[in-house]
Amino acid sequence: MSDSLPTNLPTQRQLVLPILDAVDKAGGEATTAEIRNAVADQLGLDETQRNQRGTIGGQDHNLLAHRIRWGQQHSKLAGLIERDGRAWRLTDTGSKHLTSAFPGRPVTVFFTPNGCALWGMAEDAASVIDPGTVRLLLTSPPYPLKTKKEYGNKVGQEYIDWLCSIIERLMPVMESNGSLVLNLGDTWLKNSPTVSMYQERTIIALQDRLGLHLCQRLLWHNPSALPVPSNYVGVERIRLKQAVECLWWLSPEDRPYADNRAILEPYSDRMKKLIEKGGAVRSKKPSGHATREGSFAADNGGSIAPNIFRIPNSGDQQYTRACRDAGLPPHPARMPIPLASKMIEFLSQPGEVVFDPFGGSGSTARAAEDLGRHWITTEAAREYVEGAKLRFSEELAR
Ligand SMILES: C[S@@+](CC[C@H](N)C(=O)[O-])C[C@H]1O[C@@H](n2cnc3c(N)ncnc32)[C@H](O)[C@@H]1O
Repeated sequence: MSDSLPTNLPTQRQLVLPILDAVDKAGGEATTAEIRNAVADQLGLDETQRNQRGTIGGQDHNLLAHRIRWGQQHSKLAGLIERDGRAWRLTDTGSKHLTSAFPGRPVTVFFTPNGCALWGMAEDAASVIDPGTVRLLLTSPPYPLKTKKEYGNKVGQEYIDWLCSIIERLMPVMESNGSLVLNLGDTWLKNSPTVSMYQERTIIALQDRLGLHLCQRLLWHNPSALPVPSNYVGVERIRLKQAVECLWWLSPEDRPYADNRAILEPYSDRMKKLIEKGGAVRSKKPSGHATREGSFAADNGGSIAPNIFRIPNSGDQQYTRACRDAGLPPHPARMPIPLASKMIEFLSQPGEVVFDPFGGSGSTARAAEDLGRHWITTEAAREYVEGAKLRFSEELAR
């Protein structure tokens, strides 16, 4: 098989881990088209790279699709994935493709003057962090899978118990007026266009078992979300695009440290004009709500942010490119750094400690470093900690 394809596309070998990640993230099963889209997103390929065509064996092909097909073939021959009808599934071997940390004491992979990235299990993080020192625990735990398989994630009640027990172990590191922000995404029930209630059940369990207060539901709207779940959204057309995720803001106290003035939004043109002309005139709205003469006259530097953040999950090309160049798998489920930044600015102050127990690609760490906070991350997969390190090449070169 000749593979004289352009060098601006990843090689077949480099595609193996992203392919396994794409299947893993899709719940352990994915079609070729789903794998192709997910891999292209993960690697940050632009439209030109996705649509590049060329002649192979005298026939015209989409080069990326062709290379991914061979990446799949390579993974199949290596016993990492297997075919089941239209879908690809991870085998036992494939599900262990990342180098997982051992339970026990986390190991430092790199540190900067402000932070420390540990390869280790979230369960063990409390053993290396001073009690009562974390102002903000900001994290996206792995989501539960649809079916119980050997991929590491838990399902159903087991997932809730697992996450609650980790949070319980981590509670001693929190300042009493600190915050926990858990970013959880919806998952769909197996063979049904209906949504799992695991998020609600998890939050209720955290309240019942650990006495955590729900300070507010914060929402992340990703305008660049793909039309998934594709069978219900794109094929049957019976559901809408899944474009919102919840950030559950919890705290041991009901009034944790928070300051909405730290994340003011620019005034709208209408509001700017209102301030210029000395505020509103006295009026009564159809709702019965009365506006006093001169209200909204003060310039407070910006509007108070709503509890929904519209942030596209794109623009992380530098990271994906650096991973690609280093032969590392880019993390498949990254939080946008601007979203992490909003949480950090709102719920902590410079010099305080931000902790992400499921650190992934180091988005929380990067945002915290940029905002002058101290940071700690733990991450179970060695390759992801190595990838996170690439976000800190400047600091590490000093
Ligand atoms: C949803 S991802 C987090 C992504 C991260 N917020 C980012 O922006 O890159 C969850 C991460 O938790 C890691 N993980 C799973 N179980 C873990 C555990 N017990 N301890 C530490 N990390 C774990 C996974 O390897 C995965 O990278």
